[in-house]
Amino acid sequence: MKSISLNIDKALGFVTKEQVYSRENSAAACIRDLHKGTGAGNDFLGWLRLPSSITNEELARIEHTAGALRETCEMVVVTGIGGSYLGAKAVIDALNGSFDWLEKDRKNPVIVYAGHNIGEDYLYELSKALKGKRFGVINISKSGTTTEPALAFRILKKQLEEAVGKSEAKRRIVAVTDARKGALRALADQEGYQTFVIPDNVGGRFSVLTPVGLLPVAVAGVDIRQLAAGAAFMEKATGEDVPFADNPAAIYAAVRNELYKSGKKIELLANFHPKLHYIAEWWKQLYGESEGKERKGVFPASVDLTTDLHSMGQWIQEGERSIFETVVSIESPAHTVIVPTDEANLDGLNFLAGKRVDEVNKMAELGTLLAHVDGGVPNIRITLPEVNAYYIGQLLYFFEKACGISGYMLGVNPFDQPGVEAYKKNMFALLNKPGFEKESEAIQRKLTR
Ligand code: PA5
Repeated sequence: MKSISLNIDKALGFVTKEQVYSRENSAAACIRDLHKGTGAGNDFLGWLRLPSSITNEELARIEHTAGALRETCEMVVVTGIGGSYLGAKAVIDALNGSFDWLEKDRKNPVIVYAGHNIGEDYLYELSKALKGKRFGVINISKSGTTTEPALAFRILKKQLEEAVGKSEAKRRIVAVTDARKGALRALADQEGYQTFVIPDNVGGRFSVLTPVGLLPVAVAGVDIRQLAAGAAFMEKATGEDVPFADNPAAIYAAVRNELYKSGKKIELLANFHPKLHYIAEWWKQLYGESEGKERKGVFPASVDLTTDLHSMGQWIQEGERSIFETVVSIESPAHTVIVPTDEANLDGLNFLAGKRVDEVNKMAELGTLLAHVDGGVPNIRITLPEVNAYYIGQLLYFFEKACGISGYMLGVNPFDQPGVEAYKKNMFALLNKPGFEKESEAIQRKLTR
């Protein structure tokens, strides 16, 4: 089997190879801290060995539950936010056909999402779409107390129970949450829902290879064994014993920290395949929540290309020179589409006739790379031989491992997210949640100041 590969050649005009390699000892120390559990946030390192430690029994149980939901439901709602939603969405979008949901005799249930926003129209429209459908719910919350998914679940539970009765609803609801604590755990135990546990030592944004990600993607028909096998390959390829030069996660962490030091404060994750859009959304949360603290951290942003060349292209080419670009590139798309010949050739495209659309896309990618590098944008490239569960598994683990190393290199704890609480405190105070009386008073003073 091939593997995904990392190419930093086109970043080396901006930082030198010596600068990148000057990080070798630091990378080794960061990897050691991760593996020995001697760094900050060391009670959240469960993700590190997940791929190699996941058992056949665990996978079989996930597949079994997924099979039951697939049999019963034509639609499954995944409720969750942040790390409890983005991983599943990223994998499902990357691996399922973009228009599968339109097929009448499709073999997979349609997966829809809730609890990742508080949009009233969104929830109304979702409820409407579910009316008369055989649907189930996978309710995911590690803490079990997050407002967005709890609110959505309350609405969905009521709708499902009214449609099919309490006992059938119970068969169609699965909870993924903490083993002991949290409101969702209490609710699941009381209602008798089937549950899966998110290990205590795995934080939300690192949880895609737990049932948080694996259950929804298995329901969507993705081969979770291949996903886990790809991740296990990458676990080895980025291990403690791998020399710096051969460890893609260490090199990626080193080069992005050097670029950051040189003033490149924004990283754009770019793809040339729209199926990868949510891989970038997942990556943004992973790096944003892990590194953005203590007034530090590369700002993770993303673009879909060539789409965004027609919106953000100007900025990327000529705006402030504070960005670098990391392209997730696909060697071979799964399907072939040939540009047809057209006798009239009014669009002038006959010079492309007989070529694969991917050849055009590849030249757009290469042309963009050269233009952006000429324009002062360092380029890092991560290439997947093809988009399948095995390589996506590699990619996920690669980004997780690199994130741990990169966060330690930056000097922050990559495994906490204290800043996320600020908005929640204000929101609860504004909504007069019991227990937030003091904050309510303080906020009223701020609002009238
Ligand atoms: O990475 C994280 O920890 C967060 O993004 C969480 O995943 C997110 O806030 C959802 O939390 P929970 O799963 O507790 O509902």
